[in-house]
Amino acid sequence: MQYRRLGRTGLKVSEVSLGTMAFGRWIDESKSAEVLDTALEAGINLIDTADVYGSGMDTLDQSGFGESEAILGRLLRGRRDDILLATKFNAHVGPNVNDGGQSRYHVYRALENSLRRLQTDHIDLYQVHAFDPETPIEETLRALDDLVKQGKIRYLGCSNYAAWQLAKAHGISALHSLHRFESVQPEYSLITRGIERELVPFVESEKVGIISYSPLGRGILSGKYRQGEAPPADSRLALGEKRLELLLESNPAYALVDKIQPLAEAKGWTLAQFALSWVLSHSYVTSAILGASKPEQIRDALQHAEERLTPQELAEIDDISSSIGLF
Ligand SMILES: NC(=O)c1ccc[n+]([C@@H]2O[C@H](COP(=O)([O-])OP(=O)(O)OC[C@H]3O[C@@H](n4cnc5c(N)ncnc54)[C@H](OP(=O)(O)O)[C@@H]3O)[C@@H](O)[C@H]2O)c1
Repeated sequence: MQYRRLGRTGLKVSEVSLGTMAFGRWIDESKSAEVLDTALEAGINLIDTADVYGSGMDTLDQSGFGESEAILGRLLRGRRDDILLATKFNAHVGPNVNDGGQSRYHVYRALENSLRRLQTDHIDLYQVHAFDPETPIEETLRALDDLVKQGKIRYLGCSNYAAWQLAKAHGISALHSLHRFESVQPEYSLITRGIERELVPFVESEKVGIISYSPLGRGILSGKYRQGEAPPADSRLALGEKRLELLLESNPAYALVDKIQPLAEAKGWTLAQFALSWVLSHSYVTSAILGASKPEQIRDALQHAEERLTPQELAEIDDISSSIGLF
């Protein structure tokens, strides 16, 4: 496993990190333990979760939120200090009107709840899950800055931010000498390349880390879904992941898979290995957050993670992407 510096900070994170959105949602605690152990054995040192992850994401039953954090808290007992823990807040996770968003009120409560579930006294990377247009960003940043000063958070990050939102937040942090967002967590894969237009140039200029999610397009870039055919029974599409369904409906993903598959085969790689290597071949990506529902998926995906695609392969992929209107 290779490690990269998180933006301008001195923190070194594994270039592949483990996402735990599946924990408690699609896989139970014992399967989650196998996935986690496999990731740690491979040298992954950054684990990403969120206060909202759990079975409640599909049922919208709020009692099913937080299960991923709770499982992680139990599984990490005795080895918490061996890893970097990243979590997020913003989603509406409780019955009251203030149980979501980014008010000072909710920032404090969300962090305390995550610390309790994760059985830890600090979060290494605390991320706002999305932009909150209803709360002045200064209120959120001041609350987060206070919590950094209290020692409960090491670094701040944001997720699903547009470049202008990050620029605005950075401006306010600089104006008031507050800790700034040192990383951004966008979706980035062969089928979701939108960040290349504005976010990537901004992030490169401001030395912000990119911890990108869904490098395998939520499973699409493993080639397991074929147009017109039933999905594998144990896959997330079969289990009803809404955002995966939308991605397949609104995106020429099947066409891309058909065209990229021969490039992966020519290297003797699986499509999943090729898709992960493509993300990591971009030096502006600090770490790609990989998801898995089985330990063998991690072992398979990581096999060529340290190898970069050639400039010719990257150019060929760009041509394919633009020929089908993906980029
Ligand atoms: N900030 C946000 O808004 C946001 C949103 C989404 C995700 N995330 C983060 O990013 C993490 C990763 O997201 P993701 O799970 O969508 O990422 P992903 O890596 O694109 O997709 C993972 C899925 O791909 C399939 N897979 C993985 N390795 C495979 C292999 N070697 N061969 C065949 N199939 C393989 C599995 O699908 P099956 O389980 O169906 O087999 C697995 O669940 C999440 O856990 C979360 O931490 C953040």
